Amino acid sequence: MVSNDYSDALPALLGDGRMSRIHLFDCIDSTNRIAKDMLSDGAPDGTVIIADSQTNGRGRLSRSFLSPADSGIYLSYIIRPDSMTDSISSVTAWTAVAAANAVESVCGLRPGIKWVNDLVMNNKKICGILCELCLAADKSIGIIIGIGINVTAKDEDFPPELRRIASSISAQTGRSVSRTELAAQLIKELDIMRGHWPDNGRKYLELYRRDCITLGKDVIVTSGENQKKAFALAVNDDFSLSVRFEDMTTQDISFGEVSVRGMYGYS
Ligand code: BTN
Repeated sequence: MVSNDYSDALPALLGDGRMSRIHLFDCIDSTNRIAKDMLSDGAPDGTVIIADSQTNGRGRLSRSFLSPADSGIYLSYIIRPDSMTDSISSVTAWTAVAAANAVESVCGLRPGIKWVNDLVMNNKKICGILCELCLAADKSIGIIIGIGINVTAKDEDFPPELRRIASSISAQTGRSVSRTELAAQLIKELDIMRGHWPDNGRKYLELYRRDCITLGKDVIVTSGENQKKAFALAVNDDFSLSVRFEDMTTQDISFGEVSVRGMYGYS
């Protein structure tokens, strides 16, 4: 039984048509984990899973995502692509733009994008994205887009080791933000994105490049145990990041960790 601000307000914001494919939970381990189960059970394209809190919110690179109740948006969106295309790698970047659109619509301020998938305000992470490619039981492919947004938490609500990295929209803007309104807008933006993906991405690339705060910065590229200093030159058409190392060689990076010097405590 779900009883929280989502169940009260989302139907009015989204209408019955959309609500029929939205699954609300109070507390679960991970919306991405539930999405995988639903995918295997045949959930259709556009299925949305939202939780008030998660006990095992998962992040990139095997990290966890802090997901306390009444405070953030923890949402997964299922895409069932027609075919396995190269564009699958672009979903994370498109989602960053869609989420930034939603935050701007509801909060009046647009976050920056730290390559590849963090939304940031004043150099603090307010949103993370974890996209996972899954094989359903019938061998069809699904993409699970997991989005976590810190909406109303106070800075002191974050554990000390996270305070230099993460914050919330309310803490960074000083504005009161409705979690339900933002979740509704996010779902609308994801539906719009799904309508364009994978072929019609010019606008997403344009906005991504405009908002990517990694560009033109000194960065540290981590690959396994190795860390190398570099300079972020450009976002390529496939959303890979072109960097120049100190020995003047260049590389296009598609996966992994690129830390921006001066952000998240990296010096
Ligand atoms: C990251 O910053 O590394 C990605 C964080 C993604 C967190 C979201 S919350 C909803 C969805 N369910 C999960 O378990 N993770 C994603």
